[in-house]
Amino acid sequence: MSVSLKPILSVSNLITGYGLTSVIKGIDFDVYEGEIVGLVGPNGAGKTTFLETIAGTIKSKAGKIFWRQKCINSLSVMARRKLGIMLVPQEAYIFPMMTVKANLEVTGIFNNHTETKRLMAYVHEIFPVLRTREKQIANTLSGGERKMLAVGMGIISNAKLIMIDEPSIGLAPKLVTKLLENLKKIKEDTGRTLVLAEQNVKILNVADRIYGLEAGEMRFCDKTQNLDETMVAELYMGK
Ligand SMILES: Nc1ncnc2c1ncn2[C@@H]1O[C@H](COP(=O)(O)OP(=O)(O)OP(=O)(O)O)[C@@H](O)[C@H]1O
Ligand SMILES: [Mg+2]
Repeated sequence: MSVSLKPILSVSNLITGYGLTSVIKGIDFDVYEGEIVGLVGPNGAGKTTFLETIAGTIKSKAGKIFWRQKCINSLSVMARRKLGIMLVPQEAYIFPMMTVKANLEVTGIFNNHTETKRLMAYVHEIFPVLRTREKQIANTLSGGERKMLAVGMGIISNAKLIMIDEPSIGLAPKLVTKLLENLKKIKEDTGRTLVLAEQNVKILNVADRIYGLEAGEMRFCDKTQNLDETMVAELYMGK
């Protein structure tokens, strides 16, 4: 893996939450170009709140978020999206009344036509079901198919950093393995950077580094190969 020396995303002493409550209590978090970062933590740890704050759907209370060394705290969701930061939310976000094909096409809106075509072919290669069901209305897809469509939309977008909140949720074990392997392939083939919030232990097979979040505080951060898998699974994945 080749990574650049400066992080593309750098979060410093971030505090965020709802109303007067702070859910994320002052955390630091760095992501380097071309890596897969796993964010693990039990239910309620604050993973979704944290990712939503980076995407801009939740406003931070304190701390700084830098994208390529530029502070983006004051930028809107759309401005961050234009920079290349995209979140695939926990509840797979799709346009329910549009076809599978139209969902994918509309997400490529910032790309030129040739690029969208190339990425569409790539998405069909890794998720063949999205080709066979391209004329189907999205809200009639199964939960697993919806998740694949949401991830496919992330790939087809021009996002440089794709954050996926619980990619494995609702998927059968075999599909989880396949999806995570495909995410690794996406990283290798397209140079995208990925942040995956996960509670499935299989994340340890694909992530380059892992951050462990618990009760809104970052408990550890290390290269996956240095981690004690049993400890991570027991303490951060409720296994
Ligand atoms: N809209 C909200 N208003 C108030 N509190 C909220 C809101 N959304 C989440 N919370 C609280 O914030 C805390 C962190 O929730 P969050 O969804 O970020 O955790 P998570 O790590 O993503 O959990 P899970 O693994 O269950 O998805 C929880 O205690 C939750 O109840
Ligand atoms: Mg969550």
